[in-house]
Amino acid sequence: MAPAADPALEQLEALIKETLASTTDPKVKDKLTKAQEIVSTASVRAKGVLNKFALDGQVAVVTGAGQGIGRSIAHALGEAGAKVAVADLEFNRAETVAAELQAKGIQSLAIKVDVSKKQECEDMVQKVLSAFGDLHIGVNNAGIVFHSDSEDTSEQEWTRTMGVNLNGVFYCCQAEAKHMLKKGYGRIINTASMSATIVNHPQRQVAYNTSKAGVVHMTKTLGTEWCDRGVTVNCISPGYVDTELNRSELLLQVRTQWLNETPMKRLADVEDLVGGVLYLTSKLSNFTTGLDLIMDGGFTCW
Ligand SMILES: NC(=O)c1ccc[n+]([C@@H]2O[C@H](COP(=O)([O-])OP(=O)(O)OC[C@H]3O[C@@H](n4cnc5c(N)ncnc54)[C@H](O)[C@@H]3O)[C@@H](O)[C@H]2O)c1
Repeated sequence: MAPAADPALEQLEALIKETLASTTDPKVKDKLTKAQEIVSTASVRAKGVLNKFALDGQVAVVTGAGQGIGRSIAHALGEAGAKVAVADLEFNRAETVAAELQAKGIQSLAIKVDVSKKQECEDMVQKVLSAFGDLHIGVNNAGIVFHSDSEDTSEQEWTRTMGVNLNGVFYCCQAEAKHMLKKGYGRIINTASMSATIVNHPQRQVAYNTSKAGVVHMTKTLGTEWCDRGVTVNCISPGYVDTELNRSELLLQVRTQWLNETPMKRLADVEDLVGGVLYLTSKLSNFTTGLDLIMDGGFTCW
């Protein structure tokens, strides 16, 4: 279906046309003709391909949106027109980001959630539905990382990592899809990692890498199971991003090695990832499901 034209531009076009028809002054005619060209170009743009990224009237929930990658995605979805629920384990962080969005005129809601608990993921979706009446986009992004040699990885580290990174993503997908499948439309985007494809080093993180590989395969499974009922499921896999997750003493020490191994010779900025997410939430990705969109500055190519 063709996107709607901007009604304000249509009114302006009609006004210029009407004035042109009724004026005989050549100078005024000349200026109006130029104005008509400008409005016509703007009108083509408003109806054009960029308009397909607009999320006006849609509702999104982003987990782990209290900082880092999730925060940046929440801002991008809001700027594209969506109402955004900012969900995080740390409620004060969620409230801060929700307030940032509101200051930009974006409708938003802060939600406290521990994604490792199935009931809390279901409650999160219910809160979004109560506040905004619908849910079109779920970005399941909350994640954690610990580091240890595999032979010493504790049961607690393994279980918590899987609980948040793998179970949490599944519980969110499930809770979101229950609503989306009924409505026949949904866009789910999970945050995996290039760690699903390569083994990071020198730091050791068996639980994290395994959990992220699970997210990629879960995404392919759900993405093919739900797509014929209108719900696509895709994931993004960032390379090293400059966020709190990577600012521990251990990781700051190995950063130079990461840079040397990254063809672009830099970490990603959170802003580098939002284009991919906007594509996956937009009409332009209608035929895309089960994709693992790796955005890593070329890291996995070497
Ligand atoms: N930073 C990177 O280099 C990088 C690379 C690839 C993938 N990722 C993934 O991107 C996602 C976001 O990472 P980030 O770098 O923004 O991390 P971050 O630590 O800066 O932010 C993560 C947010 O998730 C929240 N969170 C943690 N546990 C939670 C839980 N149980 N329930 C709800 N919220 C919880 C935290 O409170 C925090 O606000 C993670 O899944 C991470 O694995 C990060």
